[in-house]
Amino acid sequence: MEFFTIESSIRNRRARPFILKRRAMEIQLNNRQNWIPFQEIQQRLPPLIRALGPHPGEVSLLLVEDREISRYNRRYLNRSGPTNVLAFSLREGLFPEINPGLWGDIVVSTETAAREARQAGISLMDRVLFLIVHGWLHLQGYDHEKSLQDEQIMEARSREILSRLKAEQRREMVMNKPRLAVNVDHVATLRQARGGNEPDPVTAAAIAELAGAEGIIIHLREDRRHIQDRDLRLLRETVKTRLNLEMGAAEEIIRIALKVKPELVTLVPEKRQELTTEGGLEIVRQKKNLAQAVTRFHRRQIEVSLFIDPDPGQIRASREVGADIVELHTGHYANARNEKEARKLFQRIEEGAELAAGLGLKVSAGHGLNYINIKRFAGVGEIEEYSIGHSLMARAILVGLDRAVREMVGLIEQL
Ligand code: PXP
Repeated sequence: MEFFTIESSIRNRRARPFILKRRAMEIQLNNRQNWIPFQEIQQRLPPLIRALGPHPGEVSLLLVEDREISRYNRRYLNRSGPTNVLAFSLREGLFPEINPGLWGDIVVSTETAAREARQAGISLMDRVLFLIVHGWLHLQGYDHEKSLQDEQIMEARSREILSRLKAEQRREMVMNKPRLAVNVDHVATLRQARGGNEPDPVTAAAIAELAGAEGIIIHLREDRRHIQDRDLRLLRETVKTRLNLEMGAAEEIIRIALKVKPELVTLVPEKRQELTTEGGLEIVRQKKNLAQAVTRFHRRQIEVSLFIDPDPGQIRASREVGADIVELHTGHYANARNEKEARKLFQRIEEGAELAAGLGLKVSAGHGLNYINIKRFAGVGEIEEYSIGHSLMARAILVGLDRAVREMVGLIEQL
């Protein structure tokens, strides 16, 4: 590896180090890019650090965009234009003993990484993690530019670390088990059928929580066909987990949501004639309006989820309008007419989940899920929450709500 003098413009002594708790391995993370949310990077680093193993000193990881990496590329390598990753060892060259606590610097351009990820059809985060591993190996003295043999050795080492990383990511996912959120609209539908006061969705929500649900969902429709304003008010007071208010982006409902402050709102397309939400929300064509709505919710510390079809364009647009979560519409998969179609539609959901998580979005899924079709989600680690209503309530009529929720929680725990 060549020797580069490190300037303070690369290393930022004031940046807060990112320290993995159990072992004293310091990674000084310095973020100067906007392609991946900082929070997402922080979340993805611990498994990477575990996969890389111990290192002899502090490492600075600098994430930048093309302009900045072009400057370093020109200054230290005399090459023009941006590159994907640069690694600067502080253990080589003329004065390796000057800073014995430091090991080296890795600089990654997430902008170039995003281009490469698009070309390769992989997630941005996967590409960035690969590049960090690549830089890391350079710091260890591996150099693919020396000879074909050196290139093969470096590739083999890279594969080894990346497969350890996959195992670490799986472990992390097991620790963050997916949750069940229960939609209680159907309880309100039954109540409205007679116009009385039973069954009460507020009681149903409490039973669902006691049985292990980790969220309660209600859809306050403009026509108030099932959930009423009173339900929202009471549930805001009684829900102990997370209250998710599903809604169309109508001004009246937005104002109610801002006032009541659920933990989370899920924006869905709403039509008066439909029996239930029919398709995903169209984000691409209404980015401006949605971005404004998202900002209003964020100002009130309300998280925003967008219910969308698992379509790459809609997923990227969701990220662009500032959503925190995408709920991937599973209804088409649930209604597939045969196994071949189900497999194809499921693959879209899997790929959508991976893309969304790679963009730093949290992912949930819902619509039409039941005790059978949920099983196919085994191993789709990106999905953090499943929103289920109809199949749960249908079963609850026969076996009781407590048992129906416990059975679904059990299935989701096994995914
Ligand atoms: N997610 C969203 C956005 C929905 O509109 C619905 C239906 O109200 C669900 C999840 C739950 O769907 P299901 O009742 O089919 O389980």
